[in-house]
Amino acid sequence: MLWAQCDGLDPLFLLGSEKPAAEKAHRENTMNPEYLIADTSDIYSPALVFYRALIRRNIDQTLRIIGDPSRLRPHVKTHKTREIVRMEMDCSITRHKCATIAEAEMLASCGVPDVLLAYPMVGPNQKRFAHLIARYPLTQFKVLADHPIAARSLSNTLQAHGLTASVLLDIDPGLHRTGIPFGDDALDLYRLVHSLPGLRAAGLHIYDGHNHQAQAEERARAAQETFQQVMAFRQRLESQGLPVPSVVLGGTPTFATYARIPGVECSPGTCVLQDHGYHSRYPDLDFIPAALLLTRVVSIPTSNRLTLDLGYKAVASDPPSDRRCTLLNVPGAKIVLQNEEHLVVETDQAGGFKPGDDVYAVPTHICPTCALHKQAYVIEEHRLSDLWDIFSRDRFLNC
Ligand SMILES: Cc1ncc(COP(=O)(O)O)c(C=O)c1O
Repeated sequence: MLWAQCDGLDPLFLLGSEKPAAEKAHRENTMNPEYLIADTSDIYSPALVFYRALIRRNIDQTLRIIGDPSRLRPHVKTHKTREIVRMEMDCSITRHKCATIAEAEMLASCGVPDVLLAYPMVGPNQKRFAHLIARYPLTQFKVLADHPIAARSLSNTLQAHGLTASVLLDIDPGLHRTGIPFGDDALDLYRLVHSLPGLRAAGLHIYDGHNHQAQAEERARAAQETFQQVMAFRQRLESQGLPVPSVVLGGTPTFATYARIPGVECSPGTCVLQDHGYHSRYPDLDFIPAALLLTRVVSIPTSNRLTLDLGYKAVASDPPSDRRCTLLNVPGAKIVLQNEEHLVVETDQAGGFKPGDDVYAVPTHICPTCALHKQAYVIEEHRLSDLWDIFSRDRFLNC
C-alpha cells in the first residue's frame, strides 16, 4: 500500500498516460499517480516538493481562462520562486504582483518589466522602495495608496531621491483589510495622488478576498456587483478629468469572472500551485495541486497512530489544527496532534506502515507553507530534477 518503495512502480504510472485517472484521483483526494516519486532517497524530509509539469498546467489553465497574457498579473507571494516567474515570463506574462519589497526585488532581478507592489509603503519602507526603484531602472514599479498622509510622505521621499512611481488607489470593496471605500474621500485621494510630485496616478487596485462564497454562481454574482461599483467609480474619476489607465482586480476565487471583462487585469496567486483549501472549497476552479509535502513516518506510538515529521514549522498553521494538510496515501487519517516538528494522525491503516515510510501531504494553505521552506525539490517525470530556492522568503535581498 505504500508509495515509498517506488522502484517497483507500475510502469503505466511512469508513462504519465493516466490523465483522466489522475484528475479523478485528485477530485477524490486520493493519490494522483502523477505525484509518485520513483526514488526519494535524496529527499530530506519534511520536504516541499514542486511538480514542474503541473505548475505548467496551472499556468496554461490561467492563460486559457483569460485569453490574453497582458491582462494577467499573477501574485508571486504564493511561491516566491524565480524559476516559476521565469516559466510565466516564457508564457509572455510580463506584469506581476507582489506583497513585499523582497518579492518586488526578486521580480525585478528576473527582468520583469512591470511590478505592482500591492502593499502600503509606510515608515522606512518608503526609503527602501526608493532604493528599489533606483536600483532597477528597467522595471516600472507601481505601488498602492489608501491614505493622504502616506501618499504625501511617499511623494516627499521619492522627490528627495529624484524619482517617480506609479500609484494605484487601493479600493476597499468590503474586505476591510486595506483600502479606501468608493466615494468622495476616494475621489479626493486619487486627485491628490494625481497632483503630488513624484507620484503618477495609475489606476485602481481592488482585492476582494471577501468574495469567497463556496457556490460558484453566488461568488460570480458578488464579483459582478464589485465590478459594477468599480466601473461606476472609474467613470466618476474620468468625468472629472482624472485618467484611470489600469484596474487590477481580485485573486483566484473570482478570477474566472473578472477574466471575462475586457480591459481589466487579474491577479490570482494561489492557483499556480493550488492547495487543498481552495481545491476543496472551490471545485469549480480547474487547477491541480502542484506542490506537496513529502513527510515520513518517524514513530508509531500506538497501534492506530502514526507520527510524521510534519510539524507546524513545515506546513502552514493558519488553517484549523485538524485541517492543516491531507495525507494522500493514508486516506481518512485524522490529525489528532501537531507540535513544532511532529504531526500525529490516527488511522486504522497504521499497521501497514513502518518508520521511514514516505507520506505525501497536500497542504491546506500553500502560500505560507512555501515560506517555511528554504528550497523546493522539483520533480519531473517522477524523478528529482532540480532544487529551487524559495528566494524571496528572506525579507531582505539588497534593498
Ligand atoms: C492583494 C492580493 N491580491 C491577490 C491575491 C491573490 O489571491 P489568491 O491567493 O486567492 O489567488 C492576494 C492574496 O492574498 C492578495 O492579498
